[in-house]
Amino acid sequence: MKVLVLGSGGREHAICRGLSLSPEVTRLYCSPGNPGIAQIAECVNLPAGDNAAVADFAEKNGIDLLAVGPELPLCQGVADAVRARGIAVFGPSQAGARLEGSKDFSKQFMVKYGIPTARYASFSDCESALKYVASEYAAGRGVVVKADGLAAGKGVIVAASQQEAENAVRSCFSGTFGAAGSIVVLEELLEGEEASILALTDGKTIVPLVSSQDHKRLLDHDRGPNTGGMGAYSPAPVVTEELMNTVKEQVLDRFLKGIQTEKLEYKGIIYAGIMVTKDGPKVLEFNVRFGDPETEAILPRLKSSLFDVLFKTANGKLSEAVMNWSTDPCVGVVMASEGYPGTLKKGFPITGIKDAEAAGCIVFHAGTASKDGKIVNSGGRVLVVSAEGSTISEAVEKAYSGVKKIHWEGVQFRTDIAWRAISRLK
Ligand code: AMP
Ligand code: GLY
Repeated sequence: MKVLVLGSGGREHAICRGLSLSPEVTRLYCSPGNPGIAQIAECVNLPAGDNAAVADFAEKNGIDLLAVGPELPLCQGVADAVRARGIAVFGPSQAGARLEGSKDFSKQFMVKYGIPTARYASFSDCESALKYVASEYAAGRGVVVKADGLAAGKGVIVAASQQEAENAVRSCFSGTFGAAGSIVVLEELLEGEEASILALTDGKTIVPLVSSQDHKRLLDHDRGPNTGGMGAYSPAPVVTEELMNTVKEQVLDRFLKGIQTEKLEYKGIIYAGIMVTKDGPKVLEFNVRFGDPETEAILPRLKSSLFDVLFKTANGKLSEAVMNWSTDPCVGVVMASEGYPGTLKKGFPITGIKDAEAAGCIVFHAGTASKDGKIVNSGGRVLVVSAEGSTISEAVEKAYSGVKKIHWEGVQFRTDIAWRAISRLK
């Protein structure tokens, strides 16, 4: 079977690794890929945002399955364009991808189908939004400010004060996030522990993957600015069997009913970012693709064929798929460039990747490039070093033993990934 993957990050490296280990896959392409992916797949450079170019390539090369990594091409309708050529696609239609592409649409969907989520209001003018912020603070409640559209993970401001919330509202309406900020969603500030629940659906069946937890803040002890994610681990002990059952019933089953009723073509992943509050789980956001870096901690635990499950999902046969998960936990530590998540210092040679691999780690490339025969850092998040262990502590130790072997000028990483799981043991 021939497979094409779209994307260039650590998530896509993990997807490509899973596919390259799947016995059915005879040829694996990735566009655009990265130097790590290039070791296991043929990287091609299809023009970004050009659905017809992807469909043409898939048709000409006899692709049996397109698997889309990031949300942007899904929101631009690449799944529809390729499916129209009779090729199986893992990834929702453009209409389905709006569940991530528009936070306002997503909130309306959650409310309509009874999916528990934070109270909210949407605004298209600054004055009304500011009035709402003032009334919430007057009532003693905090506010989270969200630009409606895709903003590369930067459109959510968890305000620490009324002043900060007001500044965030003004900044959205003044065009900081472009068209994405022309509608602003103001949400009740929820308290609790977060978890990521990713589930597969083919529109008929919905099946959760193993749980995971991301670390959004840049610095140890969850301090510093929000990032795309500085590390993840799976499973997340906060997701007990009981909580998972509640999520299945109140989130996943209702999601499935919603996409069926709204006739949204959806064959792919639905990622529910959950806050476990004292009133139960509430959905912070839906994403329409695998999480990054969650995928780098989840997929190494899948011991059966990744191709099988993606292909069956893409063909509406998810109920026939079997997934064998290792019970061993997996931890992925993100290594980032100096300056991340702000202005980056890039282009420094990276050493020690092979040593980390020899120590039993999987090193996923996220923001790397090849320069004069060397691998250099070229993005914010550069590598994700993952390791499994028979306990979470063992997995953490192993992942950090790999991290310590890797170096470039200005490298930064958190030293406390999985601390919540570990502190539960104490
Ligand atoms: P999102 O992109 O919507 O997941 O938001 C990014 C991060 O902001 C989440 O992972 C949470 O840490 C935080 N966040 C989002 N919405 C809320 C909320 N209503 N209450 C508290 N924190 C939130
Ligand atoms: N790890 C957060 C995300 O993928 O959106």
